[in-house]
Amino acid sequence: MKITETSDLWWKNAVIYCLDVETFLDWNGDGVGDLAGLNQRIDYLAELGITCLWLMPIYPTPDRDDGYDITDFYGVDPRLGNHGDLVELIRTAKDRGMRVIVDLVVNHTSDKHPWFRSARSSRTSPYRDWYVWADDPPETDPSELVFPDQEDSIWQWDEKAGQHYLHRFYRHQPDLNVANPAVRDELQKVAGFWLELGVSGFRVDAVPYFIEAMGAESDAPADPHLILRELRSFVSRRKGDTVLLGEVNLPHRQQRTYFGDDHGDELHMLFDFIAMQNLYLSLAREDARPLAKALEKRPDIPRSAQWATFVRNHDELTLDKLTDKQRQEVFDAFGPEPEMQLYDRGLRRRLPPMLDGDPRRIRMVYSLLFALPGTPVLFYGEEIGMGEELAAEGRHAVRTPMQWTDGKNGGFSEAAPSKLASPVVEGAYGPAHVNVAAQRRDPDSLLRFMALLVRRYREAPELGWGDFELLDQPHRAVLAHRLSHDEASTVLVHNLGSDAVTVPLRLPDLDEEVLLVDQLCDGTMGVDAKGRVELDLEGYGFRWLRVVRPDDRRLS
Ligand code: NOJ
Repeated sequence: MKITETSDLWWKNAVIYCLDVETFLDWNGDGVGDLAGLNQRIDYLAELGITCLWLMPIYPTPDRDDGYDITDFYGVDPRLGNHGDLVELIRTAKDRGMRVIVDLVVNHTSDKHPWFRSARSSRTSPYRDWYVWADDPPETDPSELVFPDQEDSIWQWDEKAGQHYLHRFYRHQPDLNVANPAVRDELQKVAGFWLELGVSGFRVDAVPYFIEAMGAESDAPADPHLILRELRSFVSRRKGDTVLLGEVNLPHRQQRTYFGDDHGDELHMLFDFIAMQNLYLSLAREDARPLAKALEKRPDIPRSAQWATFVRNHDELTLDKLTDKQRQEVFDAFGPEPEMQLYDRGLRRRLPPMLDGDPRRIRMVYSLLFALPGTPVLFYGEEIGMGEELAAEGRHAVRTPMQWTDGKNGGFSEAAPSKLASPVVEGAYGPAHVNVAAQRRDPDSLLRFMALLVRRYREAPELGWGDFELLDQPHRAVLAHRLSHDEASTVLVHNLGSDAVTVPLRLPDLDEEVLLVDQLCDGTMGVDAKGRVELDLEGYGFRWLRVVRPDDRRLS
């Protein structure tokens, strides 16, 4: 890899920050976060070292699924601002070295979308075939339900239409019919529109459902992946450095297909849900092996592709790919109360409360996030250790307002608390105890630590680009691995357990001439002639050691 390639394939070592404009900063005092408010915090994000913002849906919406129910794919929800505000934001972010990507939610629309209103009104509507209809739909298997607490079928009878329509998610979100070429054309036009406004790509929502074409007389392409290939080729034609980051929660083997197998002509990036779920299993057991196994079993992916790694996102912490017994272990460790659990498969919590606020353990997990092979994605508030608000409904527990200060509404808004888009966290993780203003001034804060991780990650492109090697060592609780790319190489060691350990490592290609230079604190060590070294780690300790050879010209 040439250093210049890190700007071409910029997503391979980006630091992505996901936020919902609605809950970030309210600048006009109406209780709802807005684009103008986000613009005021661009310097904060730049200081943290973020290189790419991912905006959750900003489109007009009845807001029954936190904006994932859209009534106009070309619009900006007036509560957040307008196209002008968005362009101002993209421009300011660009000036501070940050790209912006937006959610592309094209599996479904809101049932209030004009296309659906027209479609349901008559069988001759030009939009009728834009949705998936059935007179006599098949029974829904419970495993097909994404929201089993709200829905019992993926088909909804529509009195007006005189037919059932398909909805993979809530019944107010009818699925678009991607078998219809007119729909695919329109969706490309949507992507083209936002690219023209200056976004650098899309987080593509619910991809497996999106490309699945159902319906009785479906004239879908024989290979549904054609839809992704078409989209990739369209966006690349329009803007060569566009990234498509897909939500594809499937086993690794199937995920490879979504990268476009050997051709690499579909999505550039996929969230690694498997590694994420095994990370929690490893944390619960204080045994790094489930995570190590998940990383080792990742399929090879094309050079331009990348895994997106994450600790939390805006949804429930899904544990659906673990066995029932494994999931129960994680529930027992991190969310034993029924109110902490959701859909029988996940937790509606943020990390710090799950770890009882133990700062050593929280830092170890975020160190690991940045040390895993891939591109880290942060969910807003993680950098200061925000907690959840279990009194909020369902997934909203983790979608509370960003905590800027210890003042009114955590500095999020001047509005009356009853007017806020979402309730502010109360208690030990509330703004009085967890907020940006205090952590900015505190050199020992989580925020400062996160900024250090970001800086070190960015300085070592091998962390994003490198080949993964699991290092042999005797402790179950320890994950020792090495990421190498060309000459660059870093050894990363994390202790998931509470006991201090000494970790013997053997790095056969190294000798006495080589130094291992600690990237997170002052410390340099050598290895012996056979490449052997012993590392001391505290309980929940971690080290990032860059391999520095005598002729190395990189800054270390
Ligand atoms: C996935 C999103 O992450 C989730 O928040 C949303 O509810 C569903 N897609 C439906 O759009």
